[in-house]
Amino acid sequence: MSQPVGKLLLFGATGDLAQRMLLPSLYGLHADGLLPEGLTITGTARSDHDDAAYRDFAARALDEFLPADRKDDSAVGKFLERLNYQPLDASKTEGFAALADKLGDISHGLAIFLSTAPWLFGPTIMGLEAAGLAGHNVRIGLEKPLGKDLQSSREINDIVASAFPEERTFRIDHYLGKETVQNILALRFGNSLFEPVWNAQGIDHVQITISETVGLEGRTSYYEESGALRDMVQNHMLQLVALIAMEPPARFDGTAIRDEKVKVLRSLRKIAVNEAANLTVTGQYGAGASKGEIVDGYTDELGKASNTETFVAIKAHVDNWRWQGVPFYLRTGKRLAERRSEIVVQFKPVPHSIFSERGGQLHANKLVIRLQPEEYIRLLVMAKQPGLDRDGIRLREVPLNLSLDTEFAGTRRRIAYERLLLDLIEGDPTLFVRRDEVEAQWEWIDQIRAGWEANDVKPKPYASGNWGPSAGIALTERDGVTWNE
Ligand code: BG6
Repeated sequence: MSQPVGKLLLFGATGDLAQRMLLPSLYGLHADGLLPEGLTITGTARSDHDDAAYRDFAARALDEFLPADRKDDSAVGKFLERLNYQPLDASKTEGFAALADKLGDISHGLAIFLSTAPWLFGPTIMGLEAAGLAGHNVRIGLEKPLGKDLQSSREINDIVASAFPEERTFRIDHYLGKETVQNILALRFGNSLFEPVWNAQGIDHVQITISETVGLEGRTSYYEESGALRDMVQNHMLQLVALIAMEPPARFDGTAIRDEKVKVLRSLRKIAVNEAANLTVTGQYGAGASKGEIVDGYTDELGKASNTETFVAIKAHVDNWRWQGVPFYLRTGKRLAERRSEIVVQFKPVPHSIFSERGGQLHANKLVIRLQPEEYIRLLVMAKQPGLDRDGIRLREVPLNLSLDTEFAGTRRRIAYERLLLDLIEGDPTLFVRRDEVEAQWEWIDQIRAGWEANDVKPKPYASGNWGPSAGIALTERDGVTWNE
């Protein structure tokens, strides 16, 4: 791991992400004494604040978004002292000199968190370079969206690479900052139990669901351009596939882990244009009820007609020896029945049942990894129901339950960005996405979009509060598979 930096520069410092996630995360790290002594945080955005006004702004954000038990007036006060602010119009190179002046001496290293509109990457990177803010001791964290297809992502990555080499470029996928996502590695590579059956011989299929109850949340223009495939599958879901499907890396480090993930991403079977309508389902939410409230449909929120998908389900395959013939069913959507992120690994049935002649019914084992809102790993195993079995053997599926919420009850769950910001400050790239991974992800996604375009696929309507269009259910049912609900 390289040295912690002495300064942090936050682009988009007055935006939604900064208020909800970045400032609370940085405060969390500060309050636990995890930020380097003396680290200053400079915010920048177009708004015309001075330091005092930005500290007030940050104080209000913390007040609104910090959980009550984390608010400590004296820690907040000290945290705010780390903050300062420089207004910047990033489209003009001139303003970057004043930003560099504001930052002052960066000889102890600078970490930049950049989240910006796609068209501002060019001017921003040029501005940083011109102002001497891209030198060897500067690293940059990039927040999505980083393009909308392979070509635009390459353009952005090329622009960034012109000033920051890959080892100083930290692409953020906030799912990798989640404790439960990292736990997939512990489960798979910290236990000897699963690995021998973690393959096509032992596993029938894998399901990954990221369902949300929220709708657009005011992000109309971004989401309308993006849709569920780009917003959730291209990044978070494919990273989950990679972690589930990867070979054991030799070490826990950025090179070994990312080398293995990229092999999986490159092994994803391209969905041929003529297969797109069979292997994928898209939907768009209409009006309905979400968490007991009547809610508008997508186009009502948007204020115009649209063919953007707010739901997508895909039957994917990883074409390598380990996973040959094992479908990975993926689905994600807005305004679904529940907020839930989970991975279900369905094992194969036993080769022969000794119980069937005695009336005993077996269900194949299933491993449920619930990432949120609850955090647990649950292995469903068969057990004999107590009794004298005069009228047959009764077997029941019972859970072997590892509740991470209970087991680690005393440990505070951190916001994913706490982990990622700290890793950025300290220079550990392991949980960031490498360029080759992103490009493999886009390649697979672009092929799906090409199939949708060629076949004029339009999203099917579903009522808010459901599990998406019925075709999403049919996608698995025709293989005899039921989504875990
Ligand atoms: C973001 C997407 O990357 O992830 C959002 O842009 C989505 O649309 C969010 O709501 C989901 O993240 P989480 O951590 O709430 O599952």
